[in-house]
Amino acid sequence: MAELVDYEKRGTVGVVFLDNPPVNAMGAAVRQGVVKCLTQACDDPDIQAVVLVGRGRCFSGGADIREFGKPFESPHLREVIDTAENSPKPVVAAIHGTAVGGGLELALGCHYRVGDKSARLGLPEIKLGLLPGAGGTQRLPRLIGVEPALGIVLSGEYMPADKALALGLLDEVAEGGLAEGAVTFAERLVSEGRPLRKTRELTIDPEGAAGIFEKTRKSIARKARGLIAPYRCIESVENAVALPYDEGMAKEREYFLECLESEQSKGQRHAFFAERQATKIPDVPADTPVQPIETAAVLGCGTMGGGIAMNFANAGIPVTVLEAEAEALDKGLAIIAKNYTGSVSRGRITQEQMDRRLALITGTTDYADIAEADIVIEAVFEDMDLKKRVYATLDETCKPAAILATNTSTLDVDEIAAATKRPGKVIGTHFFSPANVMKLMENVRGAKTSDETIATVMKLSKTIGKVGVLVGVCDGFVGNRMLYAYTRQAAFLLEEGALPHQVDKVIYDFGFPMGPFAMGDLAGLDVGWRIRQRRAKTRPKDERYSPIADRICERGRFGQKTNAGWYRYEEGSRTPQPDPEIEELIVQVSGELGFERREISEQEILERCMYPLINEGAKILEEGIAIRASDVDVVWIYGYGFPVHRGGPMFYADRVGAKAIHETMSRLHDQHGEMLRPAPLLADLAKSGKGFGDL
Ligand code: 3HC
Ligand code: NAI
Repeated sequence: MAELVDYEKRGTVGVVFLDNPPVNAMGAAVRQGVVKCLTQACDDPDIQAVVLVGRGRCFSGGADIREFGKPFESPHLREVIDTAENSPKPVVAAIHGTAVGGGLELALGCHYRVGDKSARLGLPEIKLGLLPGAGGTQRLPRLIGVEPALGIVLSGEYMPADKALALGLLDEVAEGGLAEGAVTFAERLVSEGRPLRKTRELTIDPEGAAGIFEKTRKSIARKARGLIAPYRCIESVENAVALPYDEGMAKEREYFLECLESEQSKGQRHAFFAERQATKIPDVPADTPVQPIETAAVLGCGTMGGGIAMNFANAGIPVTVLEAEAEALDKGLAIIAKNYTGSVSRGRITQEQMDRRLALITGTTDYADIAEADIVIEAVFEDMDLKKRVYATLDETCKPAAILATNTSTLDVDEIAAATKRPGKVIGTHFFSPANVMKLMENVRGAKTSDETIATVMKLSKTIGKVGVLVGVCDGFVGNRMLYAYTRQAAFLLEEGALPHQVDKVIYDFGFPMGPFAMGDLAGLDVGWRIRQRRAKTRPKDERYSPIADRICERGRFGQKTNAGWYRYEEGSRTPQPDPEIEELIVQVSGELGFERREISEQEILERCMYPLINEGAKILEEGIAIRASDVDVVWIYGYGFPVHRGGPMFYADRVGAKAIHETMSRLHDQHGEMLRPAPLLADLAKSGKGFGDL
């Protein structure tokens, strides 16, 4: 087996290279290699200092997540780090690209840290439902202070070199070659007789940390409800203040193992790999040529178009926004500017970043101005005739190589593609609202979409900071089709006896940011109302249909924008308040439909909402609309706020068990009829004892 760590001498400095592509994950062979090379350097009388550096794209992406849950192979990462920290010769971490998780913990155990401008440092363990388990919670607060350390551990975000330097996480940012810079730095340490600075020996002033932990617990309470890892992170950092180093380390280990074994971490680790798996399309090989996207255009600058344009500008890609009328264009551009101003005032971006991004967005009403764009994303009204006309014009105007993408949420991408002479270049790019915030892009593959178009758009998703999932054409694609299966059951529950806040509470407690009714009020009830009116003609007469939402809209209650919808809202507030008027309406509709209202348990609400959603996911898999069950999970986590610690709906289904879900669905089918018939795939899995993850 190739060595994953190698060693060379540069004068009196020994350089240890981590060489485990793609991200120098610290698997067993790397851990063994680092200890071996450090020992070799320490035993060599010619060597006075050691530099640790990563080959390839980064220093290290941390512990090898694939090893979690498998038999352990010595040495532990903590021992590797101790070997560095206990070295009698100074050890310098030379950081380029990411040094995160166990990778940063290794660097924290080195006596000094030098980075280059590309360095990004962080402890992302919390995103895997874990806490740093190799001393991160003990060394980081000692090195940079409790408050910034808590920020890093709890956010899981990566920080750039200049910030890390300012915090004292890096000792120097090298200009030019990193390894050379670090070797020079190490030589200087030796010649100046600088001490071996052991992070574990630094002290924390307990008075300076007073009050921080309680304040932090309060500040994360809503977001971290029901989660284990965030609270263990806080406790562990608290231990760094209160306990001697060794005791703090022992506690950190205990918490880490507890988290590692938790269902929450399993769900989050599944989500990590699911997101990366989604980039792999079985029949579109990884080496499929990709078109360069250097300029973009967006058609329509309404709710979605404006947000989509911002994504390009944020990624540094010039984008031209085309509207039909100058007035609509001015309005759309003004909203974009207002959004950026909001980000500046909240400290998310600087004024300079805002100016740079705005300068990349140009408005026009003339198709000639978008003729050279590499991709056009259409986000005009949801109207097939309009879209067909727009596509015919785009086809005539845009250069032949341009990809024409549609943001439609319900229309047939193949029908849209047929309006052009380049169906291979037509694809759906379904963004989620607000498009500059939500990370999901459902990329919809039409019957004739070419491999090159698919590969280009999947890559583009990542370039503009989105998570792309390839799906097939059907009504609602993956996400909205499953959403409908769930929200309509939520509405039926109201007819049968529940109230909106009861349903919403169950879904919120399950871990969603909000329940279906609060979500409806946020999105605007008029949108769905219009879609339902359009579909009324084609709806089968015998299909169960809940009129409550329509009756609410008929009263001019469109949700938060009118301060009234499923709930009422105080002027200027976004907090939903149960509204007696709506409760009266619901009871009235129950009576009209002949329902004897009954007590509905929280368990029934959960099953009635989540199992039909899962059942629809099963149908989607049967039909090949999604490539794999984990893709459905990614859609739901990034597009709809499905709790990531539950791993997404299909992963959650496997935790509950296909057999149990099938039994409940069969019972519901008997009680409520055809709409709740279990999917054949669910029945197969129930019979075979397998799960969606086994497909
Ligand atoms: N272990 C195993 N595999 C990893 C990994 C890790 N820590 N980090 C990344 N990978 C794999 C990915 O699964 C992917 O595999 P694939 O090609 O087979 O799909 C490949 O490396 C490339 O990853 P990305 O597509 O994410 O590459 P990017 O260049 O976009 O990003 C990165 C690189 C910034 C390192 C990003 O992968 C990342 O943020 N990884 C998260 C790392 C993480 O969570 N580390 C903490 C691990 S837990 C830990 O360290 C515990 C310790 O405290 C004891
Ligand atoms: P919107 O009504 O806010 O914006 C549409 C914009 O298109 C308007 O500004 C309008 O002036 C412009 N427009 C109309 N005809 C045009 C033409 N011929 N040329 C150029 N511009 C034209 O609509 P919204 O919500 O942004 O939706 C746009 C598309 O995105 C629709 O297909 C919709 O289904 C889809 N979508 C909407 C989501 C949402 O939450 N609103 C979510 C995902 C997709």
